[in-house]
Order: sequence, then structure tokens, then C-alpha cells
Amino acid sequence: MCGIVGYVGPQDARDVVLEGLRRLEYRGYDSAGIAVVADGALSSAKKAGKLANLEKVLAERPLPAATIGIGHTRWATHGGPTDRNAHPHLSADGSVAVIHNGIIENFAVLRAECEKDGIEFTSETDTEVAAHLLARAYDAAPEGEGRLADAMRTVCRRLEGAFTLVATAAAEPDTLVAARRSSPLVVGIGDGEYFLGSDVAAFIAHTREARELGQDQVVEIDRHRGLTVTDFAGAEVEPTAYTVDWDAAAAEKGGYDWFMLKEIAEQPQAIADTLLGRLGVRGELVLDEVRLSDQELRDIDKIFVVACGTAYHAGLIAKYAIEHWTRIPVEVEVASEFRYRDPVLDRSTLVVVISQSGETMDTLMALRHAKDQNARVLAICNANGSTIPRESDAVLYTHAGPEVAVASTKGFLTQLVACYLVGLFLAQIRGVKYEDEVSAIVADLRRLPEAVAQVLAGMEPVRELARSLADANTILFLGRHVGFPVALEGALKLKELAYIHAEGFAAGELKHGPIAVIDQGTPVIVIVPSPRSRESVHGKVVSNIQEVRARGARTIVIAEEGDEDVVPYADHLIRIPRTPTLLAPVVTTIPLQVLACEIADTRGLDVDQPRNLAKSVTVE
Ligand code: F6R
Repeated sequence: MCGIVGYVGPQDARDVVLEGLRRLEYRGYDSAGIAVVADGALSSAKKAGKLANLEKVLAERPLPAATIGIGHTRWATHGGPTDRNAHPHLSADGSVAVIHNGIIENFAVLRAECEKDGIEFTSETDTEVAAHLLARAYDAAPEGEGRLADAMRTVCRRLEGAFTLVATAAAEPDTLVAARRSSPLVVGIGDGEYFLGSDVAAFIAHTREARELGQDQVVEIDRHRGLTVTDFAGAEVEPTAYTVDWDAAAAEKGGYDWFMLKEIAEQPQAIADTLLGRLGVRGELVLDEVRLSDQELRDIDKIFVVACGTAYHAGLIAKYAIEHWTRIPVEVEVASEFRYRDPVLDRSTLVVVISQSGETMDTLMALRHAKDQNARVLAICNANGSTIPRESDAVLYTHAGPEVAVASTKGFLTQLVACYLVGLFLAQIRGVKYEDEVSAIVADLRRLPEAVAQVLAGMEPVRELARSLADANTILFLGRHVGFPVALEGALKLKELAYIHAEGFAAGELKHGPIAVIDQGTPVIVIVPSPRSRESVHGKVVSNIQEVRARGARTIVIAEEGDEDVVPYADHLIRIPRTPTLLAPVVTTIPLQVLACEIADTRGLDVDQPRNLAKSVTVE
């Protein structure tokens, strides 16, 4: 969702800000804008649509060269994606410019107050109210150092909801001010220059030195005096320093047509990086970063896994593994529902929140609810320095590197691997598995990067198949046991990328209703468990394939090498290497990612930035 960039330093701010916006495009947006301060005045340009539209405007009507600037990519919430609603928003007197991510919940009251004072609004956004309030507070604040920050604190104290705000003032060519509450913002520190970004992708081409801002904090960046962080009351606080371990090259396409293709290809390495340093020489788990004591881990009597979208699917798979390995009951829930149904939580409940971005608002709110109820919270996260790990009791980073494509791929597989690590670690600490059992599973985990690479090497027939499916109206996905969440994930990928109606079902549920939709030629993709899986799950899925085929379905079967039982019923057969049942989703998901990506590409769609979607969903 909205991308935010700020810059102050010796370079031409116009270029730095536009480049930052380009790097944040992946977050999803529908308009863009930029403002700079030069010669004691604010100049801005904004345009609906992609950055190219803004660049066209700037080519026709260039902004003056400047050493300070702010830029924004907007994902519409209040008011449609129009030129007028695009950010930055300037105050009526042109003294300040503001960009914003989040939702100001009490904006209607504040807008009415401004209108009563004679201010005419030029947009339908909630953001514009912040620009007018800031100008008023700036006017009232004592002149001198810290005036803009002072005004920002005054405004923040009046705002309800979630927001990141960045502001510049016409009279302050060296000062950037920003504030955050429940919305992301990071500060980059270069050599005599400073950057602001919704995430580090905005500035990793320039610096890896970063500062994390906490909840309800305001940062003032003065080009000469440096950085000052305070809370909303004005008390100074020390920001947390960290070094970004991603490099700029990792956020480039590297010769691939789409970021998604690159990220699919990176999965063997990403999984290896998730495992790195966490598997001991004796085949034991070493998770030092899980800051909960052994006793706390032994006391856990219930686990909730809470997440959204693809990360939720990782949680559904985690349930099978964690319950099987630890015998602790696990419930999995979509984050947007969790806190509204009053879940039973206490000190012995472990809540595992999974989030690639670490900024998903629904997940963040679920986390806060869990903490309010005294539960312990463990985050599985990819983005360093993001809000969710910062607010959790413990964190296991997935180390997958930047995920730029909106559709999560390596993010998902590494979340799965991290969930396996958590499950096995609990089993090890609680002594519910013999050491040799743990080390046997650890050996299986070590083989995953190789297995994933093997699947990727055989994807050409899948791409060919995808091209033949590009005109389908509906595609169904079936699975049992851990194959069921994989079916859900396959359907989600297809919907979001190819805009084709797709649904995932537990294969056994089919006969209870959904089988009625199967018609002559309906493509049905079936994830077949290993023939070595428990209680003839395999045989049951083979029967399900026959059932749908008998009703005219075109069957696309994903099955283990050597599984000959499926051959007579598969119109298309995709082979995956032999993998232990609980770990199989790591390999069976890959053909579904490739299929969705290739179908979308064949349909001429934007694979990396599907319509209506945002990479990081920072509103509830
Ligand atoms: C789908 C997808 C989304 C995210 C979801 C949660 O491909 O990417 O469903 O999984 O929005 O995002 P994170 O993991 O950042 O919390």
C-alpha cells in the first residue's frame, strides 16, 4: 500500500525521490506525486495512474532542482484514484506539504472544523485535513529550531487511526519531519544525507544504515543538525539503529521478465537462508533468537497461528506439522477475524503471527490483542525492522530477501520452513520426540533446497500447460491433509494474478456440494499425497480424481515420482520428488506458482502488480 519517500541532502531530490518511488512500486498504488522545496516555495506535481504518468507531467512542467523532497504512491482509500486525490497535499496557504499512509479515522470531524474556519478542500482524502491542521499548528508554533516537528506533534495528538505522515515546509529547506502510528516508516542515514521510506527498498541503493521508529513517534531530520526523535508529547527517545542486510541488487529483476519469476527461482537459496545457522551439527535445532525461556516453551498448552492470505495458508499447513510433532493443540485463524470473536488466551498460549512484510495491519491488530490478553507472541517475518517483529515477544526471521512481486512466493515457502523449525524446536524442548527423530526430520529439511531446485528445473511442461489454460473461466484445486491448504494457496495465486475464478477444496468435501460445478472440460488440479502417507489418504485422493474425471473434468495431477496409481486418470501429470508428507507442500506449491504466473503472463496481465492489490496491506 501507499509508498512514502523523503530525502534531504546534496543530491537532486527530484531524482532520489522518483527513484525511491520506483523501488516502492511493488507495494501497489494507483496514483503518484512529488513535492520539493526550492527558493522558499513548495512545488508539486501529481497524477493518477502509474509513475510513467507522473514522469510525463514532470517532463512537460519540470519542478525546480532541490535538495529536499517528498514523494508518494497512493493506494486509494478515501476518495478515488484521481489527480486531485493524489498526494502530496498542500495546505491552503501553500506553507506545508504532506504525504500520508493509513487512515485518519476522525477526519470527518476535523474536516468540518477546518471548513468552519473557511478552508476550502480540494480533494476527498482524509490526508488533506492533516495538511491544513499542520499549517495552522506551524503558524502557532514558536519560531526557530524544531518548529515543524512541534507542529507535527500538535497535529498527531489530534489524529485517530493509523498514519505515517511526512511533511516539508516552504520556509524550511533543510528540514523533513515525519510521524508514525501503526503504519510503517524507516529512516536511512547516508553520508550527509537522510532518507525516509515506507520500507528500506526506498533507499537501499544509497545506504544500509537505518533507524527504526517506534509507535507514536515523530522524527525531525535537519540536514545540518541530524536526527531527533521524540514521542508525541515531545520527550526525546533513542531510535533503534540497524543495518539492512539486503543489497540493492536483490531488489532488481536480474534479467527476469517479472520479479515474481525471479523470486520463484530464488526459492532454493531462500529456504537455505531460512535454515542457515539454525540446524546444529548433531541434527538439533538452534533457535537462539526465540527469546522465550525453555520453561516458558514447556508451559505452552495451546497455540494460535494468526495471519492473512498466503501467510494464513502457511499457518494452516503448520497446524498439521506442529500438532503432529508436539501434540499441542493448534488453531489457525485469519487475523482480520481473530480479535473480534474474543478468543480464549492466557499466559500459556503461544500466538504465532506470520507476516512477510511485518506491516499487515490486520495481523498487527491481532498481535496487540493477543498481548493485551497476556499471551506470548512469536512472529515469523521477512522484513527486518518492521512493526510486527518489533512488537512481538520473539521473532524468527525468514531471511528470504526482498519480495517485490505482490504475489508471495519465496515468502510463503520460507514461512513454511520457519513454521517447521518452530514445531520441531518445541518438540525438542518439550522432549516429545527422541533426538534421533528430530535429527531425521532436520536431515529432511536440509534436503529441501535441493528438492525445490529439482522441481524448478522441470517446469517447462507446466508453462506449456499454463498457456493452454489461459482461457479457462474456472479452475478448481483439490487436496487432502497438507494438500488442502496447498489447494487453497494455488487457487489464491490464480485469482490474484490471472483474475480467473478459482477455488480450493478439501478433496473429501467435493461430494458434499462443489462437485456440481464440474462440467465438460473444467480444469481440476489435484495435489496428490505421497503413497506413503497415513491411512490411505493417497488412495482416497486417487478416487476423487476418478470422480471428477467421470463428470467431464480435465484432470491436472501433481504427484510424487513413482506414483503409478494416478497415471490412468491424469490428463496432465506433474511430477515432484519424493518428500516426507508434512514437508511436501514446499515442493507441491511450486507448480501452482508457475502456473498462475504463466497464465497471467499469457493473458497479458501485469504479473508483479495485479489490479486492486497492494503488497503491504497497512489498513484494516
Ligand atoms: C498473496 C499475498 C497476500 C499476503 C497477505 C499477508 O500472494 O501475498 O495474501 O500473503 O496480504 O501479507 P504479509 O505476509 O505481508 O502479512
